[in-house]
Amino acid sequence: QAILKTKRLGRSIHYIESCPSTQIIAHQLAQENTSDGTVVMTEEQTAGRGRMARRWHSAANKGIWMSVILRPDVVPQKAPQFTLVAAVAVVRAIEQVTGLKPEIKWPNDILLNGKKCTGILTELQSDADGIQALIIGIGLNVNQVADDFDPEVQNIATSLKMESGKEIDRKELVSSMLQFLEQYTDLYIEEGFGILKLLWESYSSTIGHPVRARMAKETLEGIAESITDEGVLQLRTADGKLHGIYSADIEMTS
Ligand code: BTN
Repeated sequence: QAILKTKRLGRSIHYIESCPSTQIIAHQLAQENTSDGTVVMTEEQTAGRGRMARRWHSAANKGIWMSVILRPDVVPQKAPQFTLVAAVAVVRAIEQVTGLKPEIKWPNDILLNGKKCTGILTELQSDADGIQALIIGIGLNVNQVADDFDPEVQNIATSLKMESGKEIDRKELVSSMLQFLEQYTDLYIEEGFGILKLLWESYSSTIGHPVRARMAKETLEGIAESITDEGVLQLRTADGKLHGIYSADIEMTS
């Protein structure tokens, strides 16, 4: 039986059978002064959303579709770091529960054998006083089989069951994820990004590799050298220039 060992995260859980998107509900709750660490979870999303206004396909009863509301006392510029911290927490939980070895593709896609099993979407409510709420949406493909995915994502998406050959206990995963997320967000607030950046890099499939970065207005190719303390990807192009990438789709080119 999965036992929740956290102090704050998941101490209040809003569980809904079906909803358009847990992000929408989390935004509403955050505006109503819900407490730090509140979690919204659902079995099925009818309008799940991903980064860059994409759709996130969320099959019923097969995945973990949740949004975590955090109220950290930090400046809004630090929001991207929380996404990286969340990615490390999810990877650690997948490792702990399944023994699989996931990788992180910058900024925060989690891959197994090169296919995506998790997406993370961080959204912000902020005003002149700083961050009011950070809403970390996590979509984790757990027990889907290939046919459960939309045809257009079948060759780029995977699930923990497809990679491990086993049905995975979703409760155990949620409990482990929330525990790592609490531990790492606390560590981040107390100590900054240093140790967590090392951890992130150790799981990264991007750093040190040749990549193509597709951005809204241009596409750049080069070596992904590192991430900065702000979570910005440093890409060195063939002409020797270093480019800071804030938001892009990354493709490995070798
Ligand atoms: C991405 O890879 O583009 C991010 C996908 C994030 C999906 C999760 S599922 C729970 C939460 N609710 C949503 O509508 N989206 C996030």
